[in-house]
Formats: sequence, structure tokens, C-alpha cells
Amino acid sequence: MTAQWADGPWPLIETPAKTMDIKRHAAVQIANEMCHPHNLMIRGINSIYLQAPHVKKPADIADFLYFCGSWCQLVAQHHKEEEDFFFPAVEKAIEKPGFFDGEVEEHHTFLIGFDEMRKYLKETTPETFSAARLNGIIDKFATDLQKHLSGEIQTLLALEKEPKADGATLLKIANEAGERAVKELGSETLPFILGLCDRTYEGGIHNFPPGMPAFVPWLAHYWFARPHRGAWRFCPSDTWKKPRPLMFLPENQGASS
Ligand SMILES: [Fe+2]
Ligand SMILES: [Fe+2]
Repeated sequence: MTAQWADGPWPLIETPAKTMDIKRHAAVQIANEMCHPHNLMIRGINSIYLQAPHVKKPADIADFLYFCGSWCQLVAQHHKEEEDFFFPAVEKAIEKPGFFDGEVEEHHTFLIGFDEMRKYLKETTPETFSAARLNGIIDKFATDLQKHLSGEIQTLLALEKEPKADGATLLKIANEAGERAVKELGSETLPFILGLCDRTYEGGIHNFPPGMPAFVPWLAHYWFARPHRGAWRFCPSDTWKKPRPLMFLPENQGASS
């Protein structure tokens, strides 16, 4: 995509698969898989930040506020799940309590600004919405968030060097974490999740979400998207994970989904 898109201003994370054999060790595979939800979050915050100043009609603002709220829910759930389940389970498996302490600390760093965004969204109506205010809040934490999302991949890669890191056990934990995340998010958010993916990313070498039957995007588009179709217009991709111009950018006004 040549025009401004959801791969900036905060940069996406390069996956380990781009430069190494992910089958080398479960740690590499897990680090690789973690890049996908992280990049979803980055595409989401970029889509919010870039489109916010151009959302003007009250009905569009209402949809936009729902989109922003969905993004907050995604971010909050991801980090809560890591702290409640994934990190403690991996630490137990490698017999190294505190291995993820640095990650948890970073969660708390960006959560201050992130919580301010959540609070702002909660008190804001289409009549009182201010893009400058919202983006001002995002400016306070998005760089820390991106840094964390990027740094956590390196921490996961470092699991490879842990003497007690058993590949099968780690993969089992990662799979369970994935299943928990899917359950937690629910099918209503499926159009949102798919709309934050990019099937062309890094030459289309990835398949995320993994194991998704071919009919799911159809179901997501024609059924699950219905209650909040207006909000999903802010997604950078369609329900088939195909990147599309950000609809609310002035240069893309009138572009179809
Ligand atoms: Fe993560
Ligand atoms: Fe994290």
C-alpha cells in the first residue's frame, strides 16, 4: 500500500519467520506467533490515530468510539491473559519465577496512558468528541506500547536458552493461551480481528488466525459484522484480511470496502 496506511506511524513488528527457521525451537515458534496479535494492536492504534481527525458526523463518531473501545478491549484482554495465565504457566514450566517480570513492569508503564484513553472513551459522546484530545492521550503511551510489543518478542526468543524449556510443554501452554484468547474475545469481534490482519504481510508467509476454516470470513462479514458494521469501517483490512485504504482519510473518501 503506497498511501498512508495502518503500518505507521507506529511501526509493525518484523516476525522471526522472516529471518530464521521457526521450527528450530518452540520458543522461536511462540515468539513468531506472538507477533500477530501484537501487529493487530499496532494496526489498530495506527488506524485510530490516523482517522480520528477526519471523523466528523455524529453517527460516524459513534461508530468510531465503538471501534476505539473494541481496540481497548483487545489490548486489555491480551495483557491480562498474559499476566493471569501465559507468563505464570511458562515460568512454572521453565522453573524460573520472574522470567517475565520485565514484561509485566512494561505493561504497567503503558497502562497509565491506556487507562486514560479508556476513561476518555467512557465519558465521551459524539457531541463532545475531540480528535485532538484522543490523539493527545495516545501520544502519551503508544510509543511505550509499541516498544513493549516489540520487546516481548525478544524475551520469548530468549526462552530458547533456558535449560528447562521443553518444546512440547511450551507449545501446549501457547496453544491453550490461544484458545483462551479466542474464547474471551467471542465471535462478535471476529470482523474486527480479521479487519486488523493483513494477509499480504511479509509477502503473505503467515496464516493468522491459525487453522481458520475458509467459511469463517463469510460468516464474519455477513453475520457477525451486522450489529457494528459501521464501526468495522475503520479497520485497515476487509474481513478477508485484504488491506484496503483507510476509509476516513480525505484522500480515500468514497473508496469502497
Ligand atoms: Fe503479548
Ligand atoms: Fe505483553
